[in-house]
Amino acid sequence: MPPLLDDAALEGSSVVANCAMNRERSLTGSNGYGRELGLDIMEVLAERCTRSPRVRWLDLCCGSGRALLEATQLTAKGNLAEQVEIVGLDLVDHFLTTTVPRTLRLITGSATEWEPNEKFDLITCVHGLHYIGDKLGVLKRVASWLTKDGVFIANLDTRSIRRSDGTPAGRQLTYELRQQGFTYDTTRRRISREGSGKVQFPYRYLGADDQAGPNYIGQPAVDSFYDHVHQK
Ligand SMILES: C[S@@+](CC[C@H](N)C(=O)[O-])C[C@H]1O[C@@H](n2cnc3c(N)ncnc32)[C@H](O)[C@@H]1O
Repeated sequence: MPPLLDDAALEGSSVVANCAMNRERSLTGSNGYGRELGLDIMEVLAERCTRSPRVRWLDLCCGSGRALLEATQLTAKGNLAEQVEIVGLDLVDHFLTTTVPRTLRLITGSATEWEPNEKFDLITCVHGLHYIGDKLGVLKRVASWLTKDGVFIANLDTRSIRRSDGTPAGRQLTYELRQQGFTYDTTRRRISREGSGKVQFPYRYLGADDQAGPNYIGQPAVDSFYDHVHQK
């Protein structure tokens, strides 16, 4: 096993604080949120607005918040500004603007520690889990933050979740993700879920390796190490 970092060391690592990583994705376009998640976010928000007086979207690891700002402007244009609340969370405050509209909140904090006061109809994480240490811990937290029929979708490479002997947790993990209510698309490397839930993974987090090298998007990423805990 490589030397493992705890959260504090990982968050200070040059791989996570890397200024070269793309924090500027737009909502749409060839490298935008829609393409990366296979989801038209404005369509989802608008459809939810037909069913609910309050619709909330949380974007974890939101980077500069560009996509969120664009969505906020579009909700205003579509007269949905009073209904839709958008929240972005990122470890670093490289946010595009300091004067954000009232319906957008950009928060500096870690997805491994932050606690929301409300539930969300949509939770996204575009190429953010690659830099998180306890990825399974974040998935567990996210499941508890969804509304009853809320939707979560994120990019995830399950090869970055490893056992203490260094091998990827592989098919067994995909099975366990499914058992806990997640869907994993192995081709597109996307994880999703519908509806809140109490998630229990049979894994104990050991720490993170920030020297794992480039992942499938070509950027240096973080491997997360776990002990498989046998449940009685
Ligand atoms: C590749 S960028 C993606 C940013 C944005 N989603 C986009 O696509 O433009 C990954 C982001 O994850 C953030 N990040 C890394 N670890 C985090 C953590 N523990 N909690 C919150 N954000 C984190 C980084 O600061 C960075 O902004």
